[in-house]
Amino acid sequence: MARARVQAMILGAGLGTRMKSAVPKVLHDVLGHPMVWYVVDAVRGLDASPVLVIPPGNDAFREVFGESVLYAEQPQRLGSGHAVRCGMDRVTAEYVLICNGDNPLPSSHDYEEFVDACLAEGATAGVLSADLADPRSLGRIIRDESGGFTRIVEARDATPAELAVREINTGIYFFRTEELRRCLAELRPENAQGEYYITDCLGMAMRDGTGVSCHASSDRWELVGINDRSELAAATRLLQARKQEALFAGGVTIDLPETVRVDWDVTVEADSEIRQGSCLRGATRVGRACIIGPNSTLIDASVGDGARVVASYVEASHIGSGCVVGPFSYIRPGTTTGKQSKVGAFCELKATTLGAGSKIPHLSYIGDATIGENVNIGAGTITCNYDGFTSEKHRTVIEKDAFIGANNNLVAPVTVHEGAYTATGSTITHDVPPGSLGIARAVQVDKEGWVRRKKHGQ
Ligand code: UD1
Ligand code: CA
Repeated sequence: MARARVQAMILGAGLGTRMKSAVPKVLHDVLGHPMVWYVVDAVRGLDASPVLVIPPGNDAFREVFGESVLYAEQPQRLGSGHAVRCGMDRVTAEYVLICNGDNPLPSSHDYEEFVDACLAEGATAGVLSADLADPRSLGRIIRDESGGFTRIVEARDATPAELAVREINTGIYFFRTEELRRCLAELRPENAQGEYYITDCLGMAMRDGTGVSCHASSDRWELVGINDRSELAAATRLLQARKQEALFAGGVTIDLPETVRVDWDVTVEADSEIRQGSCLRGATRVGRACIIGPNSTLIDASVGDGARVVASYVEASHIGSGCVVGPFSYIRPGTTTGKQSKVGAFCELKATTLGAGSKIPHLSYIGDATIGENVNIGAGTITCNYDGFTSEKHRTVIEKDAFIGANNNLVAPVTVHEGAYTATGSTITHDVPPGSLGIARAVQVDKEGWVRRKKHGQ
């Protein structure tokens, strides 16, 4: 395998000053992953573990990548060239592919094509360039009269003529490891920022006469690198468009796509429809022929075939196939709704299992409950799961075929057994036996003539 000799190094220790954030720049979220995750994911095809250069003492990186990368810390932010120096102890391969960690858009194809081209040419050093309509603050590729690569100049250090160049440095480089070590040793911070620039190593390699292969990407690049919040939004928009194209190709309808957000890892099966204003996040899975929205949010949710979630919010829960949720309900973590069940309008469910065919049609709070099949819960029913003292919530059990009258309070722990009914307005404080009617409310008293007496003081 040609690429076995190549190891990736990803630079992620920069301060990201332009983000104006306490969070390291490359950890900012793009569709459910930190931006640097996309870079690590795209270089997975290289069979050596990638080296990730990170700021000192940053556990947040370890939480994301665990043991899947090799970490190198950059104790002070002295520039991209210094970051590479810090990573070199961990490089064992013959060649190294260096990637900026703030560029989530290149695909594994972009990296592989570049590496293959460099290897095929027997290059000692290489850089991937791109032609951008608006090169902004990116480094410019400077070529000689015959079109050969000369060096990279940062926008800050460029002359007006150099600034006019539209071929830019993408921040993706290839080096023979030995050559890189030699260049790094000679690197000096002689530029407007007083930093060590990795880009200078390419000019050095060129002057050494080793030759630098400078390839323009075959893909059209719309954005290179995220440096501020505006570029974060632009990159998110571009990746969202890619994600939605993949969903379209898989037979999913998205109504008004520009109003819909679907995270990178979300899956949706054919014939499902995502309606306007909806947001599908995290590890959400949606089955076939579902309708999500308008205005639904699903976070780490799974939705069975043919279910509908209308203007509702579902988190870390499973919605059964054919189930209808909403409009305007809130399904909190740990809930499972069974096949063909219903959670109607203005209901909140938490850590609840709702059996197949059961219904909670209106205005209920059901928390920490286990509800069997074919149960009907009357409007306005509340589980009283918290006693105000213990840290644990108490469970309510409603067995199959039970019928809970409207406006009940079920004071947990309590069980309504199979086929039992409870009367409207009951506060159920102890178990209702199977097939019985539980009534727990004050008996009505009619005070004859009360209104007249009250009004006329009689
Ligand atoms: C860099 C390139 C520029 C290129 C652009 C592409 C340099 C000098 N310039 O500019 O030519 O067009 O990327 O996006 O490299 N980093 C560290 N430690 C540091 C400084 C930076 O790890 O001390 C990391 C950052 O986290 C980032 C990457 O290196 O992932 C690039 O740094 P950044 O400051 O974004 O460089 P640019 O100014 O965008
Ligand atoms: Ca950058």
